[in-house]
Amino acid sequence: MPVINSLAALADEMTAWRRDFHAHPEIAFQEERTAGIVAQKLAEWGVEVHTGIARTGVVGVLRGARGESARTIGLRADMDALPMDEANDLPWASRNPGAFHGCGHDGHTTMLLGAARYLAETRNFDGTVHFIFQPAEEGAAGARHMIEAGLFDRFPCDEVYALHNWPDLPVGTIGLRAGPIMAAADVFEIAVTGTGGHAAMPHKTIDPVLVAAHIITALQSLVSRRADPFDPAVVSVTQVHAGTAYNVIPETALLRGTVRTVEAATRDFLENEVGRVASGIAAALGAEARASYRRGYPVTANHPDQTALAADIAEEIVGADKVDREVTPVMGAEDFSYMLLEKPGAYLWVGQAGGPSACSVHSPHYDFNDAILPIGASFFARLVERRLAAG
Ligand code: NI
Repeated sequence: MPVINSLAALADEMTAWRRDFHAHPEIAFQEERTAGIVAQKLAEWGVEVHTGIARTGVVGVLRGARGESARTIGLRADMDALPMDEANDLPWASRNPGAFHGCGHDGHTTMLLGAARYLAETRNFDGTVHFIFQPAEEGAAGARHMIEAGLFDRFPCDEVYALHNWPDLPVGTIGLRAGPIMAAADVFEIAVTGTGGHAAMPHKTIDPVLVAAHIITALQSLVSRRADPFDPAVVSVTQVHAGTAYNVIPETALLRGTVRTVEAATRDFLENEVGRVASGIAAALGAEARASYRRGYPVTANHPDQTALAADIAEEIVGADKVDREVTPVMGAEDFSYMLLEKPGAYLWVGQAGGPSACSVHSPHYDFNDAILPIGASFFARLVERRLAAG
């Protein structure tokens, strides 16, 4: 059974919603217009609407037509844009400088709206669906803020599901896997203090630039020499700041970067090692280094039963040969991970490669591929009809 007919017929309308969201992007916790449109559409279709959850979050509640089952399911879409400019010259390009739907959350919001409209019209299920439209997926943990605002107390969910468009998979395919699909993402900062002075008399200084360079090199040995090759980890130094002149050795240097891990023990290990290596190298060279380490999103780990079920539904929508049940995970991160720590569920990727814009998410040239709107909407809708099947 392919894409649901009435959702295929809704493709043009969904495309119009998506492009409107795209033209009016809003960054983390500023999704006022987007949330307003979501709430208005849900209410129009007879879905009970709750707004202002973690500022701009919206939850739609829809009960099935059959009986009074206590079963509940949560479907989540993210609404926020990235704080960057768009480089596309499209009729629906961003009209808000410094904001851009460069990750396709405009598409996710639209797909969940499409499913909500179909389910509100058909109500061919038994139980309650919670449509969760969250703010601030990009770095500001909107999912965690909604949970802290009582999301699952107010709207209990037996299970939760979410999807993301995926430019590395072809259109018409879906990828997922049980267990970790995305990494834990942490950040660190290392402040190196030496002794500044004249660049022509280095022996009278302790050069923090050289110390920082040694620290950068030594940090690369953590993954290559200390971590298990079968246990993925990434340590990337992404910022180096020091100095103001050609002829001055500065007093300080600052490094920043990110650590990605999958296993909890490896996360603990690297948190400790980043600081230990930095201070040890600095001490050896007569300087001082202080590291601070901040934990970000946890690992996005899919639950086996819900993943198997989601894969079966995906096969119904796109065909058995188009679903990769053992998709290769990536070391990016996703705040749906917080929901998966609270409730069993699954997160999957809907392929969108080969569309008009073939580049990766977060590229200034990215655009969501509208061809996959009926696929994602059908997945959500069919999932509800199967998981909350009457009888
Ligand atoms: Ni995203």
